[in-house]
Amino acid sequence: MKEALKYTKHGIVANETHYNLVVRTSEESGVVDFCNKNNILVIAYRPLRMGYFAGTEDKVLNKLADKYKMTTTQIAINYLVNKGVLPIVKSTNISHLKENIDAVNFKLSKADLEKLEEWRLPGYKTPKYDLEYYGSEKIRLVNL
Ligand SMILES: NC(=O)c1ccc[n+]([C@@H]2O[C@H](COP(=O)([O-])OP(=O)(O)OC[C@H]3O[C@@H](n4cnc5c(N)ncnc54)[C@H](OP(=O)(O)O)[C@@H]3O)[C@@H](O)[C@H]2O)c1
Repeated sequence: MKEALKYTKHGIVANETHYNLVVRTSEESGVVDFCNKNNILVIAYRPLRMGYFAGTEDKVLNKLADKYKMTTTQIAINYLVNKGVLPIVKSTNISHLKENIDAVNFKLSKADLEKLEEWRLPGYKTPKYDLEYYGSEKIRLVNL
């Protein structure tokens, strides 16, 4: 991002990046913080890891969803919005659309945000590649 800024006198308005609760490459590399500090909007594509969060049995995410009477998908969206990020969530299902819109109508506590900040999918290390999901079905490796 620093290098890219050298090549424009107009500044950079937004940076669209693969980012969700599982894939934290942009967070861990400091890109999200850098953009936030430099007034560059971070747009997250694949924010739901292609529907992955709806089917997760992860205890931490499900416990938080129960606590806020929200779904694990809503927790995943809310986390990104709290990071100052604009998630581009895609859905073809009207009840999913409503669920996703409602995901910004609650506030995670500071302690719970910190919990999510620390949270990683067990066994998952920030990779060069991520598995592409359709629902819970793994399809192929995608380049990050
Ligand atoms: N710039 C890039 O390189 C790039 C790359 C990839 C994607 N994108 C863009 O980013 C957008 C999103 O990408 P994406 O489709 O890969 O990822 P996504 O938004 O993470 O996931 C979309 C999937 O999640 C499901 N979903 C949505 N809301 C749900 C809910 N509440 N409960 C359960 N499932 C839910 C959708 O199914 P239903 O339709 O059944 O709800 C769909 O299968 C797209 O518009 C795409 O064009 C950009």
